[in-house]
Amino acid sequence: MQIKTIMVIGAGQMGSGIAQVCAANGYDVYMHDLKEEFTQRGMNGIDKNLSRQVKKERMTEDEKQETLNRLRPTTDLDDAVHADIIIEAAVENMEVKCNLFSRLDGIAQEHAILATNTSSLPITEIAASTKRPKQVIGMHFMNPVPVMKLVEIIRGLATTDEVYEAVETLAKNLQKTPVEVNDFPGFVSNRILMPMINEAIFTVYEGVSSPEDIDTVMKLGMNHPMGPLTLADFIGLDTCLYIMETLHEGFGDDKYRPCPLLRKYVKAGWLGKKTGKGFFEYE
Ligand code: CAA
Ligand code: NAD
Repeated sequence: MQIKTIMVIGAGQMGSGIAQVCAANGYDVYMHDLKEEFTQRGMNGIDKNLSRQVKKERMTEDEKQETLNRLRPTTDLDDAVHADIIIEAAVENMEVKCNLFSRLDGIAQEHAILATNTSSLPITEIAASTKRPKQVIGMHFMNPVPVMKLVEIIRGLATTDEVYEAVETLAKNLQKTPVEVNDFPGFVSNRILMPMINEAIFTVYEGVSSPEDIDTVMKLGMNHPMGPLTLADFIGLDTCLYIMETLHEGFGDDKYRPCPLLRKYVKAGWLGKKTGKGFFEYE
């Protein structure tokens, strides 16, 4: 099937990154969020990223303008009617996602694929909120989307081969490397990454070392590009908590229990880089 027009739901750090990469690779893109100020913030971020590409002579000013012209910010979910595929990147909450998928199912064209960028939630359950479970799939990008090469593709129980292949081709056209993963909590990426981040938070909680030193250990000792606490701030502590809760509930094993300090930070509104404060402070 031919994909020409894409709608991205959520213009946050992931949604805006996905929209940018889709537009830069020639697709027409609707980028949806609840309020105009949110779509505007997403567009500002994209503009800044593209300007950096122009400055580094990886893109011409004309190419930047063409990319921006292919992007349509919107607060009207009915624009989903134009899309061949909808990639949902709203908050990591099953109720929000099921509600969105059920509404999108009623708006989207019959052939349209409904994909989710969920970090951890079961694709099969999200698909069950629609009348087209064969056309529902997980398309899990990594943060920051313009830089990271991986896309995990997750089939729900009913997802057809045709839909899988269309999404795999799309990922390749976006210059990403797709990897097929089965529908288990946290897939592969977050099943492995998030317990490490949670353990780093327990290490702070138990007073083993300071956040700075814990990150230094992992950066200089294990050659990670950023320490686990900086990475947690960068992902969003709310997202980290939702993912740990999904792992804990999904596997029922105490080893996935979210650290109480993580819960406390989220309750305080310390969500990391996006709110200016998490384990570290940001401007
Ligand atoms: N958007 C676009 N581009 C960005 C960016 C962003 N938010 N942040 C950094 N970049 C670009 C920079 O412009 C720079 O590009 P050039 O090479 O063209 O100059 C490049 O990335 C490197 O940036 P910096 O030199 O400023 O910093 P760095 O060397 O530390 O790299 C990083 C930044 C790529 C983010 C690196 O620190 C890194 O790889 N961190 C780990 C990222 C990671 O693990 N991501 C996965 C998170 S988990 C996930 O996504 C799944 C989930 O469900 C939670
Ligand atoms: P974010 O908080 O930066 O952005 C979420 C956006 O969704 C916000 O702008 C919010 O206004 C919008 N939104 C919320 N409910 C909505 C609705 N009903 N309709 C339309 N828009 C709505 O979050 P994010 O980091 O971009 O994460 C988005 C999704 O991507 C989550 O499912 C998350 O688990 C997943 N994800 C996150 C990362 C990461 O590193 N942050 C990586 C991969 C996947």
